[in-house]
Amino acid sequence: MPPRVGVVGLGYWGPNLARNFDDLAELAWLVDTSPDRQEQFATRYPNATVTGDLEAMLADDSLDAVVVATPVPTHYELAKRVLDAGKHVMVEKPPAMHAAEMDELVELAGARGLVLMPGHLLLYHPGVRKLKALIDAGELGEVLCVYGNRQNLGIVRTNENALWSLGVHDLSVVLYLLDEDPEIATANGRDFLTPGVEDVVFCYLRFPSGKIAHMHLSWLDPHKMRRLTVVGREKMVVFDDMELERKVTVYEKSPWKRATTYGEWQTRSGDIFIPKISTDEPLRLECTHFLELIAGDGDRDKVARDGARVVRALEMLTTSLDG
Ligand SMILES: NC(=O)c1ccc[n+]([C@@H]2O[C@H](COP(=O)([O-])OP(=O)(O)OC[C@H]3O[C@@H](n4cnc5c(N)ncnc54)[C@H](O)[C@@H]3O)[C@@H](O)[C@H]2O)c1
Repeated sequence: MPPRVGVVGLGYWGPNLARNFDDLAELAWLVDTSPDRQEQFATRYPNATVTGDLEAMLADDSLDAVVVATPVPTHYELAKRVLDAGKHVMVEKPPAMHAAEMDELVELAGARGLVLMPGHLLLYHPGVRKLKALIDAGELGEVLCVYGNRQNLGIVRTNENALWSLGVHDLSVVLYLLDEDPEIATANGRDFLTPGVEDVVFCYLRFPSGKIAHMHLSWLDPHKMRRLTVVGREKMVVFDDMELERKVTVYEKSPWKRATTYGEWQTRSGDIFIPKISTDEPLRLECTHFLELIAGDGDRDKVARDGARVVRALEMLTTSLDG
Protein backbone atom coordinates (compact mmCIF):
# COMPACT_ATOMS: atom_id res chain seq x y z
CA MET A 1 0.00 0.00 0.00
CA PRO A 2 1.53 3.38 -0.97
CA PRO A 3 1.70 5.94 1.85
CA ARG A 4 -1.26 8.29 2.13
CA VAL A 5 -0.08 11.87 1.81
CA GLY A 6 -1.71 15.27 2.40
CA VAL A 7 -0.51 18.59 0.95
CA VAL A 8 -1.08 21.88 2.79
CA GLY A 9 -0.81 25.08 0.74
CA LEU A 10 -1.94 25.06 -2.89
CA GLY A 11 -0.56 28.37 -4.10
CA TYR A 12 2.32 28.55 -6.58
CA TRP A 13 4.51 25.67 -5.34
CA GLY A 14 2.11 23.28 -3.58
CA PRO A 15 0.48 22.07 -6.85
CA ASN A 16 3.88 20.79 -8.05
CA LEU A 17 4.20 18.75 -4.87
CA ALA A 18 0.60 17.53 -5.17
CA ARG A 19 1.26 16.39 -8.76
CA ASN A 20 4.31 14.38 -7.71
CA PHE A 21 2.72 12.76 -4.67
CA ASP A 22 -0.33 11.91 -6.76
CA ASP A 23 2.03 9.96 -9.04
CA LEU A 24 4.29 8.44 -6.38
CA ALA A 25 1.93 7.80 -3.45
CA GLU A 26 -1.75 8.19 -2.61
CA LEU A 27 -2.68 11.86 -2.55
CA ALA A 28 -5.37 11.66 0.11
CA TRP A 29 -5.89 15.22 1.40
CA LEU A 30 -5.46 18.76 0.08
CA VAL A 31 -5.67 21.70 2.47
CA ASP A 32 -5.75 25.43 1.75
CA THR A 33 -7.39 28.26 3.62
CA SER A 34 -8.52 29.82 0.33
CA PRO A 35 -11.97 28.61 -0.84
CA ASP A 36 -10.98 29.42 -4.44
CA ARG A 37 -7.98 27.13 -4.26
CA GLN A 38 -10.08 24.40 -2.63
CA GLU A 39 -12.65 24.58 -5.40
CA GLN A 40 -10.01 24.44 -8.13
CA PHE A 41 -8.23 21.43 -6.62
CA ALA A 42 -11.37 19.48 -5.77
CA THR A 43 -12.02 19.32 -9.52
CA ARG A 44 -8.42 18.38 -10.34
CA TYR A 45 -8.13 15.62 -7.71
CA PRO A 46 -11.60 14.09 -7.23
CA ASN A 47 -10.21 11.18 -5.15
CA ALA A 48 -8.65 13.47 -2.53
CA THR A 49 -10.51 15.19 0.30
CA VAL A 50 -10.15 18.95 -0.16
CA THR A 51 -10.66 21.21 2.83
CA GLY A 52 -9.57 24.33 4.69
CA ASP A 53 -9.62 22.45 7.98
CA LEU A 54 -6.15 21.18 8.89
CA GLU A 55 -7.40 19.41 12.03
CA ALA A 56 -9.87 17.34 10.00
CA MET A 57 -6.97 16.04 7.94
CA LEU A 58 -4.77 15.41 10.99
CA ALA A 59 -7.58 13.41 12.62
CA ASP A 60 -7.41 10.85 9.78
CA ASP A 61 -5.63 7.87 11.36
CA SER A 62 -4.89 6.35 7.97
CA LEU A 63 -2.92 9.41 6.82
CA ASP A 64 0.84 8.78 6.93
CA ALA A 65 2.47 12.05 5.93
CA VAL A 66 1.91 15.74 5.29
CA VAL A 67 3.71 18.13 2.96
CA VAL A 68 3.67 21.81 3.96
CA ALA A 69 3.93 24.43 1.19
CA THR A 70 2.46 27.50 2.85
CA PRO A 71 4.21 30.88 3.40
CA VAL A 72 7.41 30.64 5.48
CA PRO A 73 6.11 32.31 8.69
CA THR A 74 3.49 29.53 9.04
CA HIS A 75 5.91 26.59 8.62
CA TYR A 76 7.01 26.02 12.22
CA GLU A 77 3.50 26.08 13.66
CA LEU A 78 2.07 23.81 10.97
CA ALA A 79 4.98 21.35 11.10
CA LYS A 80 4.64 21.12 14.87
CA ARG A 81 0.93 20.33 14.60
CA VAL A 82 1.61 17.66 12.00
CA LEU A 83 4.33 16.00 14.11
CA ASP A 84 2.15 16.26 17.23
CA ALA A 85 -0.54 14.38 15.31
CA GLY A 86 1.99 11.57 14.66
CA LYS A 87 2.50 12.14 10.91
CA HIS A 88 5.73 12.41 8.95
CA VAL A 89 6.30 15.88 7.55
CA MET A 90 8.09 17.47 4.62
CA VAL A 91 8.22 21.25 4.98
CA GLU A 92 9.17 23.73 2.30
CA LYS A 93 12.33 25.67 2.96
CA PRO A 94 13.06 26.81 5.58
CA PRO A 95 10.93 24.76 8.03
CA ALA A 96 11.35 27.41 10.73
CA MET A 97 12.48 31.02 10.95
CA HIS A 98 14.50 30.58 14.14
CA ALA A 99 17.09 27.99 15.14
CA ALA A 100 15.37 27.32 18.49
CA GLU A 101 12.10 26.52 16.72
CA MET A 102 13.84 24.22 14.27
CA ASP A 103 15.64 22.43 17.12
CA GLU A 104 12.26 21.88 18.73
CA LEU A 105 10.92 20.31 15.54
CA VAL A 106 14.01 18.08 15.20
CA GLU A 107 13.61 16.93 18.79
CA LEU A 108 9.90 16.30 18.39
CA ALA A 109 10.41 14.29 15.18
CA GLY A 110 13.21 12.26 16.83
CA ALA A 111 11.17 11.53 19.96
CA ARG A 112 8.21 10.41 17.88
CA GLY A 113 10.28 8.45 15.34
CA LEU A 114 8.95 10.59 12.50
CA VAL A 115 10.54 12.02 9.37
CA LEU A 116 11.14 15.79 9.32
CA MET A 117 12.43 16.68 5.88
CA PRO A 118 13.09 20.26 4.74
CA GLY A 119 12.28 20.97 1.09
CA HIS A 120 15.77 21.93 -0.10
CA LEU A 121 15.12 21.25 -3.77
CA LEU A 122 18.61 22.05 -5.04
CA LEU A 123 20.13 19.24 -2.99
CA TYR A 124 18.36 16.86 -5.37
CA HIS A 125 19.71 18.48 -8.52
CA PRO A 126 21.91 15.90 -10.29
CA GLY A 127 24.44 18.70 -10.95
CA VAL A 128 24.76 19.43 -7.22
CA ARG A 129 25.02 15.68 -6.53
CA LYS A 130 27.89 15.59 -9.03
CA LEU A 131 29.68 18.42 -7.18
CA LYS A 132 29.28 16.52 -3.93
CA ALA A 133 30.57 13.28 -5.49
CA LEU A 134 33.63 15.09 -6.91
CA ILE A 135 34.42 16.69 -3.54
CA ASP A 136 33.87 13.51 -1.52
CA ALA A 137 36.00 11.44 -3.93
CA GLY A 138 38.86 13.90 -3.40
CA GLU A 139 38.90 14.81 -7.11
CA LEU A 140 39.35 18.52 -6.40
CA GLY A 141 41.96 18.04 -3.71
CA GLU A 142 41.43 20.07 -0.56
CA VAL A 143 38.42 22.36 -1.02
CA LEU A 144 39.40 25.96 -0.28
CA CYS A 145 36.38 28.07 -1.09
CA VAL A 146 32.91 27.99 -2.57
CA TYR A 147 30.93 30.91 -3.96
CA GLY A 148 27.42 31.22 -5.30
CA ASN A 149 25.88 33.70 -7.71
CA ARG A 150 22.11 33.95 -7.72
CA GLN A 151 21.32 37.18 -9.52
CA ASN A 152 18.85 38.56 -12.02
CA LEU A 153 16.85 41.69 -12.81
CA GLY A 154 13.64 40.76 -10.93
CA ILE A 155 11.52 39.07 -9.77
CA VAL A 156 11.41 41.92 -7.24
CA ARG A 157 9.96 40.58 -3.99
CA THR A 158 8.49 42.97 -1.46
CA ASN A 159 7.64 40.59 1.41
CA GLU A 160 10.91 38.63 1.65
CA ASN A 161 14.50 39.83 1.21
CA ALA A 162 17.04 38.34 -1.20
CA LEU A 163 18.65 36.31 1.59
CA TRP A 164 15.42 34.54 2.46
CA SER A 165 14.02 34.33 -1.03
CA LEU A 166 17.17 33.37 -2.97
CA GLY A 167 19.84 32.63 -0.38
CA VAL A 168 18.29 29.62 1.31
CA HIS A 169 18.90 27.58 -1.86
CA ASP A 170 22.62 28.36 -2.04
CA LEU A 171 23.11 28.16 1.69
CA SER A 172 21.64 24.65 1.78
CA VAL A 173 24.01 23.59 -1.02
CA VAL A 174 27.12 25.20 0.49
CA LEU A 175 26.47 23.48 3.84
CA TYR A 176 25.69 20.17 2.11
CA LEU A 177 28.93 20.31 0.12
CA LEU A 178 31.17 21.31 3.01
CA ASP A 179 29.27 19.41 5.73
CA GLU A 180 30.30 21.86 8.45
CA ASP A 181 28.65 24.51 10.60
CA PRO A 182 30.05 27.97 9.87
CA GLU A 183 31.82 29.67 12.79
CA ILE A 184 31.31 33.06 11.15
CA ALA A 185 28.33 33.98 8.95
CA THR A 186 27.92 37.64 8.09
CA ALA A 187 25.77 39.43 5.54
CA ASN A 188 25.68 42.94 4.12
CA GLY A 189 22.97 44.30 1.93
CA ARG A 190 20.80 47.23 0.96
CA ASP A 191 17.09 47.80 0.49
CA PHE A 192 17.24 49.94 -2.66
CA LEU A 193 13.71 49.30 -3.93
CA THR A 194 11.46 48.41 -0.99
CA PRO A 195 12.22 49.90 2.43
CA GLY A 196 13.27 47.16 4.86
CA VAL A 197 13.56 44.46 2.16
CA GLU A 198 17.16 43.96 1.02
CA ASP A 199 17.34 43.38 -2.72
CA VAL A 200 21.13 43.05 -2.89
CA VAL A 201 22.87 40.84 -0.30
CA PHE A 202 26.47 39.64 0.00
CA CYS A 203 27.14 36.85 2.48
CA TYR A 204 30.42 35.58 3.89
CA LEU A 205 30.87 32.31 5.76
CA ARG A 206 33.96 30.89 7.41
CA PHE A 207 34.20 27.29 8.61
CA PRO A 208 36.27 25.71 11.39
CA SER A 209 38.33 23.84 8.75
CA GLY A 210 39.40 27.21 7.31
CA LYS A 211 37.24 26.95 4.19
CA ILE A 212 35.35 30.06 3.21
CA ALA A 213 32.19 30.69 1.20
CA HIS A 214 30.49 33.66 -0.37
CA MET A 215 27.01 34.22 -1.81
CA HIS A 216 25.88 37.10 -4.02
CA LEU A 217 22.09 37.31 -3.95
CA SER A 218 20.26 39.96 -5.89
CA TRP A 219 17.27 40.83 -8.05
CA LEU A 220 18.94 44.08 -9.10
CA ASP A 221 21.53 42.83 -11.55
CA PRO A 222 22.13 42.80 -15.32
CA HIS A 223 23.13 39.11 -15.31
CA LYS A 224 20.85 36.16 -14.81
CA MET A 225 23.14 33.82 -12.91
CA ARG A 226 22.48 30.53 -11.13
CA ARG A 227 26.02 29.43 -10.52
CA LEU A 228 28.15 27.80 -7.88
CA THR A 229 31.94 27.59 -8.06
CA VAL A 230 34.08 25.28 -5.95
CA VAL A 231 37.81 25.94 -5.82
CA GLY A 232 39.99 23.02 -4.80
CA ARG A 233 43.76 22.83 -4.55
CA GLU A 234 43.93 20.48 -7.52
CA LYS A 235 40.84 21.19 -9.61
CA MET A 236 38.03 23.70 -9.79
CA VAL A 237 34.43 23.03 -10.72
CA VAL A 238 31.48 25.16 -11.76
CA PHE A 239 27.80 24.20 -11.56
CA ASP A 240 25.81 26.48 -13.85
CA ASP A 241 22.07 25.88 -13.82
CA MET A 242 21.56 28.34 -16.71
CA GLU A 243 23.42 25.99 -19.03
CA LEU A 244 21.44 23.31 -20.83
CA GLU A 245 24.17 20.85 -21.69
CA ARG A 246 27.15 21.81 -19.57
CA LYS A 247 25.67 22.07 -16.13
CA VAL A 248 28.94 21.00 -14.52
CA THR A 249 32.41 21.90 -15.80
CA VAL A 250 35.57 20.58 -14.18
CA TYR A 251 38.71 22.63 -14.74
CA GLU A 252 42.11 21.04 -14.24
CA LYS A 253 43.46 24.36 -13.05
CA SER A 254 45.51 24.78 -9.94
CA PRO A 255 48.44 26.55 -8.38
CA TRP A 256 51.69 24.63 -8.02
CA LYS A 257 55.32 25.20 -7.18
CA ARG A 258 58.04 24.18 -9.63
CA ALA A 259 60.79 22.35 -7.72
CA THR A 260 63.52 24.27 -9.58
CA THR A 261 62.32 27.74 -8.64
CA TYR A 262 62.54 29.45 -5.27
CA GLY A 263 59.03 28.78 -4.05
CA GLU A 264 57.27 30.95 -6.61
CA TRP A 265 53.70 29.99 -7.32
CA GLN A 266 53.02 28.89 -10.86
CA THR A 267 49.64 27.97 -12.25
CA ARG A 268 48.68 24.91 -14.19
CA SER A 269 45.90 24.78 -16.80
CA GLY A 270 45.05 21.30 -17.99
CA ASP A 271 41.97 19.76 -19.53
CA ILE A 272 38.42 20.91 -19.08
CA PHE A 273 35.82 18.17 -18.57
CA ILE A 274 32.07 18.29 -18.96
CA PRO A 275 30.61 15.24 -17.18
CA LYS A 276 27.21 13.99 -18.27
CA ILE A 277 24.54 15.07 -15.83
CA SER A 278 21.25 13.21 -15.65
CA THR A 279 18.14 15.17 -16.57
CA ASP A 280 16.06 13.64 -13.76
CA GLU A 281 13.65 16.19 -12.31
CA PRO A 282 14.99 17.37 -8.91
CA LEU A 283 11.47 17.71 -7.50
CA ARG A 284 10.64 14.11 -8.40
CA LEU A 285 13.87 12.97 -6.71
CA GLU A 286 13.08 15.07 -3.64
CA CYS A 287 9.57 13.63 -3.27
CA THR A 288 10.90 10.10 -3.82
CA HIS A 289 13.47 10.66 -1.06
CA PHE A 290 10.73 11.70 1.36
CA LEU A 291 8.86 8.47 0.63
CA GLU A 292 12.06 6.44 1.03
CA LEU A 293 12.70 8.01 4.43
CA ILE A 294 9.14 7.15 5.46
CA ALA A 295 9.77 3.56 4.33
CA GLY A 296 12.80 3.42 6.63
CA ASP A 297 15.51 3.85 3.98
CA GLY A 298 18.18 6.53 4.45
CA ASP A 299 19.21 8.52 7.49
CA ARG A 300 16.14 10.46 8.60
CA ASP A 301 17.89 11.96 11.64
CA LYS A 302 20.66 13.41 9.48
CA VAL A 303 18.13 14.92 7.08
CA ALA A 304 16.43 16.70 9.98
CA ARG A 305 19.73 17.79 11.56
CA ASP A 306 21.03 19.12 8.23
CA GLY A 307 17.86 21.17 7.98
CA ALA A 308 18.58 22.63 11.41
CA ARG A 309 22.11 23.54 10.30
CA VAL A 310 20.65 25.63 7.45
CA VAL A 311 18.25 27.45 9.79
CA ARG A 312 21.10 28.14 12.27
CA ALA A 313 23.28 29.67 9.55
CA LEU A 314 20.32 31.59 8.16
CA GLU A 315 19.68 33.05 11.60
CA MET A 316 23.35 34.11 11.92
CA LEU A 317 23.20 35.79 8.51
CA THR A 318 19.89 37.48 9.27
CA THR A 319 21.14 38.83 12.61
CA SER A 320 24.22 40.21 10.87
CA LEU A 321 22.16 41.75 8.04
CA ASP A 322 19.77 43.42 10.50
CA GLY A 323 22.57 44.63 12.77
N1 LIG B 1 11.59 24.64 -3.59
C1 LIG B 1 11.34 25.62 -4.40
O1 LIG B 1 11.98 25.79 -5.44
C2 LIG B 1 10.22 26.56 -4.08
C3 LIG B 1 9.70 27.39 -5.08
C4 LIG B 1 8.66 28.24 -4.72
C5 LIG B 1 8.19 28.26 -3.43
N2 LIG B 1 8.74 27.45 -2.50
C6 LIG B 1 8.28 27.46 -1.10
O2 LIG B 1 6.93 27.03 -1.06
C7 LIG B 1 6.23 27.69 -0.02
C8 LIG B 1 4.98 28.32 -0.61
O3 LIG B 1 5.35 29.27 -1.57
P1 LIG B 1 4.32 29.72 -2.71
O4 LIG B 1 5.12 30.60 -3.62
O5 LIG B 1 3.58 28.57 -3.25
O6 LIG B 1 3.31 30.64 -1.85
P2 LIG B 1 1.86 31.10 -2.25
O7 LIG B 1 1.59 32.34 -1.46
O8 LIG B 1 1.71 31.14 -3.74
O9 LIG B 1 0.91 29.93 -1.74
C9 LIG B 1 0.70 29.66 -0.39
C10 LIG B 1 -0.67 28.98 -0.25
O10 LIG B 1 -0.81 28.59 1.11
C11 LIG B 1 -2.14 28.90 1.54
N3 LIG B 1 -2.09 29.06 3.00
C12 LIG B 1 -1.55 30.09 3.70
N4 LIG B 1 -1.61 29.85 5.04
C13 LIG B 1 -2.21 28.64 5.17
C14 LIG B 1 -2.55 27.83 6.28
N5 LIG B 1 -2.27 28.21 7.53
N6 LIG B 1 -3.15 26.65 6.05
C15 LIG B 1 -3.44 26.23 4.80
N7 LIG B 1 -3.14 26.96 3.69
C16 LIG B 1 -2.53 28.14 3.88
C17 LIG B 1 -2.50 30.15 0.78
O11 LIG B 1 -3.92 30.29 0.67
C18 LIG B 1 -1.85 29.90 -0.58
O12 LIG B 1 -2.72 29.22 -1.47
C19 LIG B 1 7.21 28.70 0.57
O13 LIG B 1 7.79 28.14 1.69
C20 LIG B 1 8.27 28.85 -0.50
O14 LIG B 1 9.54 29.14 0.06
C21 LIG B 1 9.73 26.59 -2.81
